[in-house]
Amino acid sequence: MIIRKTALLVGASGLVGRHCLDFLLAETSYREVRVLVRRPLDIEHPKLVQYQVNFELLGDYKDVIGADDVFCCLGTTIKKAGSKSAFAKVDLGYTAEIARLAFNNGAKLFLLVSAMGADPGSRIFYNRIKGEVEESIARCGYDSFLVFRPSLLLGERKERRFGEELGQMLSRWLPFAFTGFLKKYRPIAGKMVAYVMVEIAGNQWQGKHIFESEKIRSFYGQVQGLGRA
Ligand SMILES: NC(=O)c1ccc[n+]([C@@H]2O[C@H](COP(=O)([O-])OP(=O)(O)OC[C@H]3O[C@@H](n4cnc5c(N)ncnc54)[C@H](OP(=O)(O)O)[C@@H]3O)[C@@H](O)[C@H]2O)c1
Repeated sequence: MIIRKTALLVGASGLVGRHCLDFLLAETSYREVRVLVRRPLDIEHPKLVQYQVNFELLGDYKDVIGADDVFCCLGTTIKKAGSKSAFAKVDLGYTAEIARLAFNNGAKLFLLVSAMGADPGSRIFYNRIKGEVEESIARCGYDSFLVFRPSLLLGERKERRFGEELGQMLSRWLPFAFTGFLKKYRPIAGKMVAYVMVEIAGNQWQGKHIFESEKIRSFYGQVQGLGRA
């Protein structure tokens, strides 16, 4: 018997999230893909169910925040959010609340796009918040919690991000800059991260597992080797 699952995707309008959405909609093991969005996505699909929510009031939507597998690609930057606390509200507050509500509704698997260097004990605010959100989700009690810690993400964006443009140029023109111990800093395509997230969700996992860029790349290579990419 083929059991077809449901997915909840948060951050579907972002770089990783929109690729995740494409892969989830194409993945036959999902019969429904729910998204929580601030503004409706300009896409229609028989499997897609969009919920336009006020992220300040997530508890009001507790009945729809659930699925078998939760994919979280939500996040902002301190610059975009306007302050450290506004950034923490999104990357820690909203994310942890969604994880808690989805768990209460029976979700078993949570996939989080965190970031390289995530560490609740870090002196770097960004890394500390990413570490704290990981800790908070780990405490929910999911059967499996898959954490993706990419280095700099590459891909098309509406807005310009200087760091990413620089990373893109470096990896294109100076690929040898990311060898040896610097290999782990090599920028990675948001599309590759999304692809691996959706592929990996189809495997059986127990407990917390961390996927840094090199591991994501290696998993991607393995799947391509199998001719499924
Ligand atoms: N950029 C990098 O190089 C990098 C590197 C490592 C890890 N990461 C992490 O990877 C994750 C995904 O990154 P990304 O570059 O794909 O993100 P992104 O393109 O900036 O997209 C972020 C998503 O979060 C949503 N979002 C942002 N602020 C929100 C708010 N206040 N309320 C509700 N939704 C909000 C956005 O929705 P709207 O469209 O409505 O704004 C969008 O769907 C993030 O957690 C990021 O921190 C990024």
